[in-house]
Amino acid sequence: QLADESVGMGELLISPLRLEPHPSLPLPADLFGKHPGSRANSTGLDLTVAAMRNPLLAALQTASVPVVPEFDVKNIPGAYVACASSYQKWSKVPVEERAATLRRAADALQAAMPQFCALLVKEAFKTWGDAVSEVREAVDFLRYYADEAQRIMQPISCPVVANAQAGYQYGVTGETNTLRLTARGVWVCISPWNFPLAIFMGQVAAALATGNTVMAKPAEQTPGVAKAAVDLMVAAGVPADALQLLHGAGETVGAALVAQPGVAGVVFTGSTQVAKIIQRALAAKDGPIVPLIAETGGINAMLVDSSALPEQVVDAVVMSAFRSAGQRCSALRLLVVHSAIADGVIEMLQGAAQELQAGDPADLATDLGPVIDREAFDNIQRHISRLQMESKVLVGAGVATRFAQVKEEPANRAGDTEQSALPRPLIANLIAPHAFEVASIAHVKAEIFGPVLQVVRWDGNPEDVIAQINALGYGLTLGIQTRIDSRAQALAAAAHVGNIYINRNMIGAVVGVQPFGGEGLSGTGPKAGGPHYLYRFCAEQTVTVNT
Ligand code: NAD
Ligand code: ALA
Repeated sequence: QLADESVGMGELLISPLRLEPHPSLPLPADLFGKHPGSRANSTGLDLTVAAMRNPLLAALQTASVPVVPEFDVKNIPGAYVACASSYQKWSKVPVEERAATLRRAADALQAAMPQFCALLVKEAFKTWGDAVSEVREAVDFLRYYADEAQRIMQPISCPVVANAQAGYQYGVTGETNTLRLTARGVWVCISPWNFPLAIFMGQVAAALATGNTVMAKPAEQTPGVAKAAVDLMVAAGVPADALQLLHGAGETVGAALVAQPGVAGVVFTGSTQVAKIIQRALAAKDGPIVPLIAETGGINAMLVDSSALPEQVVDAVVMSAFRSAGQRCSALRLLVVHSAIADGVIEMLQGAAQELQAGDPADLATDLGPVIDREAFDNIQRHISRLQMESKVLVGAGVATRFAQVKEEPANRAGDTEQSALPRPLIANLIAPHAFEVASIAHVKAEIFGPVLQVVRWDGNPEDVIAQINALGYGLTLGIQTRIDSRAQALAAAAHVGNIYINRNMIGAVVGVQPFGGEGLSGTGPKAGGPHYLYRFCAEQTVTVNT
């Protein structure tokens, strides 16, 4: 019996539910990808952490994070001249050769997977499950954009259009018309720290595959992973001047790159606030209109109706809200659960959160490592303190006590990675997962980039709930949990978001399979890892020949 509306039973139980093999709590050890089943990816390897355990731990002992000097902003014009000169050659390299270069880079990255995973653990404090997922995503991006560039960069013939049946024709006989894509020039690629390899390489690979050259500014927290990626791409055959790494602060190096005259386009992934700063800076520039691809944050919601399976919901919520310590743009921030099942879901969520293991990300048992830095820690803690005063705490105190104990443990914990424990100050940046019940959707104002979930109960019409979610202005990911197919489809159609996940978790979009990107405050729309993405890096040219 459904509590929340009057659908007939005939409409129920549509799509087979994806029941995960853990309908009861506590959660199984495989929750955060420590031992996940193989997921489709372009490597064709068994990339479970369990399968890679020994090479990963060996790499941890040997891999050292490259030290990258800060780029002096005074040298940006010179770097631009070299990059623009390289563009003259790289854009004339046949697309097949450029694609072959990216494929060599993909093969090299695949072969070096343990070393790159170790860098991600050491510099970005990724858990092993997250590190493996990220490296395979980067490999997928390289191969996908190589294939896509070859597909879309073939000239298209545009013949006279004649529809004899309808009795019309347009176009002129005696001419041939060809449409082709061309590179634009020097792109500025600005990336965040939370996917320092996959997003960095994805942006760069898209620009290079289409014949552009690149000035890349990684996040200031993760230049070492970016340097290793650039070295790998140059070794695979990308000319050094075609891919320049400019490490430094966003406000200085990033802003100067955006302001550099002659830049042909900017691709940015990061916060909405910085995307708007860049958009304004580009608009204020003299000269050509410079395109901006912006992929930003979200207040991502999951709507749960009373037909949903609570176990499946909790599995998806824990994965979506707390994996990667909530440091994913796709992460769940707002759970909107029907009041008929809310108490049961919340109780299960409380149990599940107790099972999560905090600690050194290099430890195979860790589910949540520290957040990226002290500034992020302080910011998230400020939100937690505010929510503690304003709302009802659902998950917090108990888990926080356990996390606090981890911080007190001796630096070198017994276990797999005894020598690799992170310095204490980093462990001090652990944040326990939290959940708060808030009064309404409209109360959720900001993206909190950490393991903090806000929960709202609903009754009435689910389309009204979607309208309230739309009104937040973001549009990145949305989860829908229901066993009513017609409802799932209607709600999906009403939602203004880029990626909708029905009856599953809502993170970890797969390149080529789940093209990823949002709208509204979440970005300008292009889908990374999708078939339309590379068009954004190209200009189009029509050539008409009078024959
Ligand atoms: P951020 O906006 O602070 O920084 C992103 C990048 O922009 C960094 O390289 C930074 O140095 C640079 N930057 C900062 N100020 C700049 C300026 N004035 N001019 C030019 N560049 C500048 O974001 P972050 O903290 O690194 O990453 C977290 C944010 O990224 C979150 O909001 C998250 O949702 C978002 N994100 C979005 C996606 C997506 O695909 N939609 C993916 C990952 C992260
Ligand atoms: N593409 C990443 C995800 O889907 C951000 O989680």
